[in-house]
Amino acid sequence: TVDERPAGFENNDHKPVGHGRMLRKEDPRFIRGKGRYVDDVQLPGMLHCAILRSPVAHARIVSIDTTAAEAHPKVKAVVTGAALTELGLAWMPTLSGDVQAVLATDKVRFQGQEVAFVVAEDRYAARDALELIDVEYDVLDPVIDVRRALEPGAPVIRDDLDGKTDNHIFDWETGDEAATEAVFASADVVVSEDIVYPRVHPAPMETCGCVADYDRIDGRLTLWSTSQAPHAHRTLYAIVAGLPEHKIRVISPDIGGGFGGKVPIYPGYVCAIVGSIVTGKPVKWMEDRSENLTSTGFARDYIMRGEIAATRDGKILAVRTNVLADHGAFNGVAAPVKYPAGFFGVFTGSYDLQAAHCKMTAVYTNKAPGGVAYACSFRITEAVYLIERIVDCLAYELQMDPVELRIKNFIQPDQFPYRTKTGWLYDSGDYEPTMRKALEIAGYDELRREQAERRACGELMGIGVSFFTEAVGAGPRKDMDILGLGMADGCELRVHPTGKAVVRLSVQTQGQGHETTFAQIVAEEIGIPPADIDVVHGDTDQTPFGLGTYGSRSTPVSGAAAALVARKVRDKARLIASAMLEVSVADLEWQKGAFHVKGDPAKSVTIQEIAMRAHGAGDLPEGVEGGLEAQICYNPENLTYPHGAYICVVDIDPGTAQVKVRRFVAVDDCGTRINPMIIEGQVHRGLTDGVGMALMEMIAFDEDGNCLGGSLMDYLIPTALEVPDWETGFTVTPSPHHPIGAKGVGESATVGSPPAIVNAVVDALKPFGIRHADMPLTPSRVWDAMRGVPRPP
Ligand code: CDP
Repeated sequence: TVDERPAGFENNDHKPVGHGRMLRKEDPRFIRGKGRYVDDVQLPGMLHCAILRSPVAHARIVSIDTTAAEAHPKVKAVVTGAALTELGLAWMPTLSGDVQAVLATDKVRFQGQEVAFVVAEDRYAARDALELIDVEYDVLDPVIDVRRALEPGAPVIRDDLDGKTDNHIFDWETGDEAATEAVFASADVVVSEDIVYPRVHPAPMETCGCVADYDRIDGRLTLWSTSQAPHAHRTLYAIVAGLPEHKIRVISPDIGGGFGGKVPIYPGYVCAIVGSIVTGKPVKWMEDRSENLTSTGFARDYIMRGEIAATRDGKILAVRTNVLADHGAFNGVAAPVKYPAGFFGVFTGSYDLQAAHCKMTAVYTNKAPGGVAYACSFRITEAVYLIERIVDCLAYELQMDPVELRIKNFIQPDQFPYRTKTGWLYDSGDYEPTMRKALEIAGYDELRREQAERRACGELMGIGVSFFTEAVGAGPRKDMDILGLGMADGCELRVHPTGKAVVRLSVQTQGQGHETTFAQIVAEEIGIPPADIDVVHGDTDQTPFGLGTYGSRSTPVSGAAAALVARKVRDKARLIASAMLEVSVADLEWQKGAFHVKGDPAKSVTIQEIAMRAHGAGDLPEGVEGGLEAQICYNPENLTYPHGAYICVVDIDPGTAQVKVRRFVAVDDCGTRINPMIIEGQVHRGLTDGVGMALMEMIAFDEDGNCLGGSLMDYLIPTALEVPDWETGFTVTPSPHHPIGAKGVGESATVGSPPAIVNAVVDALKPFGIRHADMPLTPSRVWDAMRGVPRPP
């Protein structure tokens, strides 16, 4: 592990990629307001789609009268579930093998569910016409509480499923129950705690939407959509709608944030496509903010019982957990097929344990479907929160410093690759230096001294620590697929005759800066300046197949593909160079951007000269085709396992119970760093996510199933006012199997920060004898905790 590297690196070395902090190539466009988002797409004759949504959480549909809406002068079509049934499109598959209603046919199952849609000449007319649709509902008893959903006699939400008589979705377990029980039975200390990760929403700046343009003459569908996975979406549209895949083009232009919320296919996309097929015109559908918050993919919603067993002197022996997972009305969880609980299996964290076990039950409720991986690799956020909270509970019981407890239990550097007790193979890690660096930046000992002084004066200052290991870069195709599609990524590189290049990716950026960093990776490998390399993505007609961007998989999978495709082009360039320099291939040496004759650097040819020769007149060496391009499909050997140490300092106002995050130190290790400036931006964003989840955000429901977080007036997200000046640092432990040693980082901070903040708040409340409090730690919750009011059920 090192913490500083010189700029510029030779291939196969693990130094940061050259051009390090180069400014983002995409920013001149964004800061001038020239980004092109889906809602900017205007096509001649385009119509607008609006969706009628259920006002209630659970009801039988008695009748739908669309006569008045159809009579509206600007309305072109009104479509109900009955009409979609005739087309075989009323139901669609979810990412996790369930089915979801595109438009409700029999019942509505959550407030905000899609019931009908209108296509009209403009957005206003479409919205107006929704009010002319008369739906008669027979309201049923809603099931909102996940525990109640499992009780015998609870109303059955999914009576559309053959033979379904309860609300149970699946049971899942990992680890060794008996071995874990044995360790628990003989442990000195066992601590258990009920820990809730509330339902939250990714809430991207740009809501979901699309423009569907179906050409009736040649049967071609072009869909501009807010999709994090254009290729996978195209395949699913082909399978579901029966349209030939080669006649579908999905374009994801600039996207205003995805955070996992733009991975699923939502009913709105299907409605717009049907609207375009029915009317023969392009149709635009854009959600408003409330529709986004109430109907598109939520995240988390886990009720967890965490248990930890240890020796009295703080050696952690085992952890186990029992989880109730609320999946809403349809199981729309986004995760590789074999992982119904996502990557929750990494709940053993960064610690060397003797045993671990998890049991999980997933349940339907009358809430919006989802379970999307909001800025995390498939439920890792929940896993990290559980272990980092329960370790702090143990520290509380043992009266040990939480840092000391963690360091004592870290997996040691010589144990990597490390197989966890739940079967995950951590590729590399060196945890203690990362932790020590965070302690040093924070001035941990001084902070503890300050805390003691303040406590003596009755002030509530808290210091929270978290240490996380993520599993990102899904994934090896032997283990991971989404609906049968393997999770490998394609990449294509073409070098034009004049030495400029275009790299085509299967991943799709939503603001992470791929146009810059992927150009940097290729530049480093092939020696063409990043400014001369164009990055093309987000268009199925222009890029090779791959599964898209989520779960911080772009760098681990497509980043590797970009490095390897560049090496493939370089290998071909070497053959051409040998002919140009009239020496054998073995006599050539590569120095970024040029081949020269070994021992005679003056005799050299640049990559640009080689590119011209590859396309130019004259013979090429035997067996070498013209042109300078290559394509690959990269299948990762393993996930990458970034880690990080976070320290948060909070002050709580004893009069109002308001929590203020005073300082936050984040030291991240994502292996080889491509662009440190972009990494810092990613970390700042994720830390802000963490403040939101820990202190403010929750999609709550009343007992009738009314969503209480349906606008940004109710669903609070953090602004610059609620966050401190972030203090970041890094260490570098390269991934041994990634061609440039890089691991993902896009979501590390979202994963690692909530436990650090909650641990800090709980630490501040220690004088009240508090060991745990549930997120979001709003003033009212902290106030109740200070007064001993029991936690909400
Ligand atoms: O899949 P996603 O792009 O969301 O996540 P990521 O692969 O972690 O990358 C997020 C951004 O950080 C991209 O622009 C990466 O190229 C950049 N990054 C980096 O510069 N160095 C790393 N080791 C990892 C990511």
